[in-house]
Amino acid sequence: MKDIHIGIIGGGLMGREMASAFARWCALTDVTARPVLTAVADLNPATLAWFDCIPSCVQKTTDYKELLANPLIDVVYVAVPHNLHEKLYLDVLAAGKDLFAEKPFGIDLDSARRIVAETKASGRFVRCSSEMPFFPGAQRAFEIARKGTIGRVLEVVSGFHHSSDLDPTKAANWKRLNATCGEGGVLNDLGMHACHLPVRLGWKPTRLFAQLQKGYAQRPDGKGGQTVCDTWDNALLHTWTTVAGDAVPLRLEMKRLAPGATNTWFIEILGTQGGVRYSTAEPKTLWLFERDKEQWWKRTELGFGTPFKTVTGGIFEPGFPDVIQQMWAAYLMEREGLLDGRFGCATPEEALATHEIFAAALESQRVGTVVTL
Ligand SMILES: NC(=O)c1ccc[n+]([C@@H]2O[C@H](COP(=O)([O-])OP(=O)(O)OC[C@H]3O[C@@H](n4cnc5c(N)ncnc54)[C@H](O)[C@@H]3O)[C@@H](O)[C@H]2O)c1
Repeated sequence: MKDIHIGIIGGGLMGREMASAFARWCALTDVTARPVLTAVADLNPATLAWFDCIPSCVQKTTDYKELLANPLIDVVYVAVPHNLHEKLYLDVLAAGKDLFAEKPFGIDLDSARRIVAETKASGRFVRCSSEMPFFPGAQRAFEIARKGTIGRVLEVVSGFHHSSDLDPTKAANWKRLNATCGEGGVLNDLGMHACHLPVRLGWKPTRLFAQLQKGYAQRPDGKGGQTVCDTWDNALLHTWTTVAGDAVPLRLEMKRLAPGATNTWFIEILGTQGGVRYSTAEPKTLWLFERDKEQWWKRTELGFGTPFKTVTGGIFEPGFPDVIQQMWAAYLMEREGLLDGRFGCATPEEALATHEIFAAALESQRVGTVVTL
């Protein structure tokens, strides 16, 4: 087992999620690389204190440049507000480290272009976080689509819904402000999740019409006052893509105001001969459409069929921490040149493609018409 020394910049929600996935690495049985959390940087000393529970994490600093100067660190994972992505990603590359970036890959399309250019120039190994395709059900949907056994593809829907913004009394955070989340708002926040599999399948939108909605214009600021919230909260992108030469409707849905939903990622691909439907709302359940003289929707209960094998029983059900760990396994094994045909993390080019979609969506909303990509 080869130890890979990791530094985390941004020890908030996602920084800690990643750290806990590393701490449970013994669950994986067919990997030859192991992440060793060595350093963390965060502006908040109280956040840094949480990392005391990880013995290998010996460097804790409020200055991320100290982490980048640490010669032990091989890979840096960055999970900070979106307005800081470009600066920090480029600093990571300039320090000669490999990068695992959080989505979005920069705050907007121009920023993504600059990061991709610098990634290429640096020669470093760079991938972008997107864990939902590592669910066994998502993997099955991807394989079915890739094999092309469902006949002519008729329609594709891919999306990500939650309802975190429904409660008007919830305090605003940086994700509700254009200045820190980016003009894309929910596109920046959830867009990679909705776009990753269609983009990996080569199903990029060619034309697009966007319906973007805002939520509450003001929220509590957490200090007794109110603050302005100006981001787009919901996005419905009605697009055309091309599958095997045919024009196919592809709908991309990203919602922070989806009543009843909590972190629900889903995909549905319908064809003339078959189809597949999967949602993390029912994480074990895969629906397969088949057609003969009669037509069937077959319901299968999936087990723990993750791309990287684990000690977990084959009939047990996977969850969010599991797919985060699978994504890291993919990152580290691809970095070692040992992915061996398994599903890899989102590439810089794929991340750039998502930004092209977001920019077209913003343009469509602005002009009120269909935009060609
Ligand atoms: N892949 C996913 O499923 C997923 C889920 C949630 C968030 N995210 C992404 O992760 C990133 C972080 O989101 P989060 O929810 O963890 O945010 P968060 O607010 O919980 O954490 C961000 C952390 O960054 C720290 N920070 C801010 N400026 C810093 C600086 N200059 N140096 C060091 N630390 C700094 C903050 O103190 C905070 O602890 C975003 O890009 C977000 O889109 C991804």
